[in-house]
Amino acid sequence: MDTSLLAALQAAPQLQRRAAEVLETEGDRAAPALRKEGTDPELAAAALTLAVLRRQARAKFGERAERMYFTREGLEQATRWPVAARRAARFAQCEAAVTDLCCGIGTDVLAFAEAGLAVEAVETSPETAAIAKANAEVLGLDVRVRVGDALEVGLGEAVFADPARRLGGARAGGASRRSFDPAAYSPPLDLLLQRMRGVRHAAVKLGPGIGHEWMDREGAEAEWVSVDRDVVEACLWLGGTAACHRASVCRDGVWHEMTGTGRARAETGEVAEYLYEPDGAVIRAGLVAELAEQLGAHTGHEDIAYLYGGDLRATPFARAWKVEEVWPLHPKKLRGLLAERKVGRLTIKQRGTGIVPAELRRQLKLKGPNEATLVATRLGERHVAILCSEAPALSRSSLG
Ligand SMILES: C[S@@+](CC[C@H](N)C(=O)[O-])C[C@H]1O[C@@H](n2cnc3c(N)ncnc32)[C@H](O)[C@@H]1O
Repeated sequence: MDTSLLAALQAAPQLQRRAAEVLETEGDRAAPALRKEGTDPELAAAALTLAVLRRQARAKFGERAERMYFTREGLEQATRWPVAARRAARFAQCEAAVTDLCCGIGTDVLAFAEAGLAVEAVETSPETAAIAKANAEVLGLDVRVRVGDALEVGLGEAVFADPARRLGGARAGGASRRSFDPAAYSPPLDLLLQRMRGVRHAAVKLGPGIGHEWMDREGAEAEWVSVDRDVVEACLWLGGTAACHRASVCRDGVWHEMTGTGRARAETGEVAEYLYEPDGAVIRAGLVAELAEQLGAHTGHEDIAYLYGGDLRATPFARAWKVEEVWPLHPKKLRGLLAERKVGRLTIKQRGTGIVPAELRRQLKLKGPNEATLVATRLGERHVAILCSEAPALSRSSLG
């Protein structure tokens, strides 16, 4: 959205409300309906786009989305509010003013300000910086936003950066898509880290798939974050922190954390009465062995993150299933066994066997009223299919 359109929208709160109403009542006919009421076509289109984005933004921002300003790309890249608020609370402990080097539409910066921190925001795109400014204004937060380059501005005692992981234009073949290569982030991660060297408190938000070689640094904490089982980001904490790996898991609005070295290996053994599937943040942080210890469990293969334990323990860090049967992984035999049990609805999970669940499902020709979960995996070199059912409701809310 260009800055003059943004200013026109800011000056017309009644048009913003009307666009949301018309979108609700007219759906696809909303644009002609607004134009018919005399709204300038370009402004009508911008107001409707904003109304659509506000609807989508509720998942990340809750009710404050109704008042905020977004671009599609800005919203896609934005941190979820609970994650930003939690990070801000951690920064607030160091009581230093924070510079956000790549503020985007301003989510993290708003969370810092809401946590009572003095903040300065930097953003290379003037249009995006204007949106961040508009968001601070509409939420009544005191934030200084300036257009600049993260690699050139002066730094304070505390620094946060969330480099862009989208490739746009020619590099991405015309479309915007995610980059998994930290050297292709904007700004490039290695330059950003060089720039941040020596800063007292710093954190960099990264894609959850980032390699451990980028995260394992002297005196740095490597954190992976999940919200309701979705691994949403990694965060590298630098300065004033003990070196460790952390999994931060948000379930139903409550945060749970576990830490470790990221290098421990769980013991291996046979399938037991319960199968646990660790949360993705625990797996990416390399904390499966620590979780195994908490659960009194072990893996079936040193590289596969399913755990087996003799008793059912409530944990926010894993889903649990009751093991019913352990069979060899032979599609033909499985077909007969599942037919005997009249299983018509089957969730297939797989790790370490290379099978394609959709293909296996086709081969199984499922029919019947019963429902089950089949986990295809390896026990050492043996390929097995484990038939499971939902674990008893020991504490459904904390087990998931
Ligand atoms: C991932 S987004 C930030 C999202 C933000 N943390 C939020 O949650 O709303 C990254 C932003 O960095 C900006 N950016 C890219 N290169 C930059 C640079 N060299 N200096 C400052 N900002 C930059 C992009 O324009 C983009 O808006």
